[in-house]
Amino acid sequence: MRADALEAALTPATRAVVVTHLYGRLADMEGLLAVAERHRLTVIEDCAQAHGAERDGKRAGSFGRLACFSFYPTKNLGAIGDGGAVTSSDDILAARVRQLRQYGWGSKYSVTLAHGRNSRLDELQAAFLRIKLPLLDGWNARRRAIAARYAAGISHPDITLPALDGAAWIAHLYVVQCERRDALREHLEAHAIGADVHYPIPDHRQPLAHAPAPLAGGDGRDLRIGRVHGDELDRAALLEGGHGQLHDGDVRQPDLLPRLLHRHPGGAGRDLTHARR
Ligand SMILES: Cc1ncc(COP(=O)(O)O)c(C=O)c1O
Repeated sequence: MRADALEAALTPATRAVVVTHLYGRLADMEGLLAVAERHRLTVIEDCAQAHGAERDGKRAGSFGRLACFSFYPTKNLGAIGDGGAVTSSDDILAARVRQLRQYGWGSKYSVTLAHGRNSRLDELQAAFLRIKLPLLDGWNARRRAIAARYAAGISHPDITLPALDGAAWIAHLYVVQCERRDALREHLEAHAIGADVHYPIPDHRQPLAHAPAPLAGGDGRDLRIGRVHGDELDRAALLEGGHGQLHDGDVRQPDLLPRLLHRHPGGAGRDLTHARR
């Protein structure tokens, strides 16, 4: 999400904005917070793909009023099953989230808050996460090193690579953009390299976003999904996640990928020095 795109998407009814640090890249929080401050918006960070991403010593999750983390097993910090956390430096909000986590109880058996649920982090998952947390920075560095190998090896005029961005990018996914995405995907799959589209339906085109109010929940005024990014997502394709625990001997695909991308249909005979980054 860019600050100018956010500003353009605002309506008089906008109260809050959820900033997703997509694919592990810390968003332009300084710019976004400036817009939020100007329009008195609450900022919620979606850090599901950005555990440990940081810029100037500030980490994902420390900018907004609330931040949400997913510990789904494929995340950079993943549990062995589902899990997640909400963080906040606002004591009142934090108490409210704790209450929502536990049925909306004000005190034992006494429900004082609507929409509560049982959403406690399972103790076993917490124990695994506790062991993994100190390893996170090392795994993130490893992911970045693998991404740097892709970046050094892939050079093709049709393919836009994700920018290397120091510690602000934890390389959760290595997502490239390609005008002929489906052909690239077929080409990679023919060579047994998994590739997927992230995301086939962006939020603003989800059926729910256009559903009549009763289907959309509440009175329909609860949620509006704005379009705050361009069509670039339409061209995005996930090539390879990699992960922080890969040993050198296991990193077969980063070497194979560049070779395959050079041979991607349309690449032959073209000047490969003009790749967009
Ligand atoms: C950006 C983002 N937000 C939210 C979620 C949801 O996380 P969970 O499934 O743990 O609720 C995910 C998980 O895929 C995600 O990638």
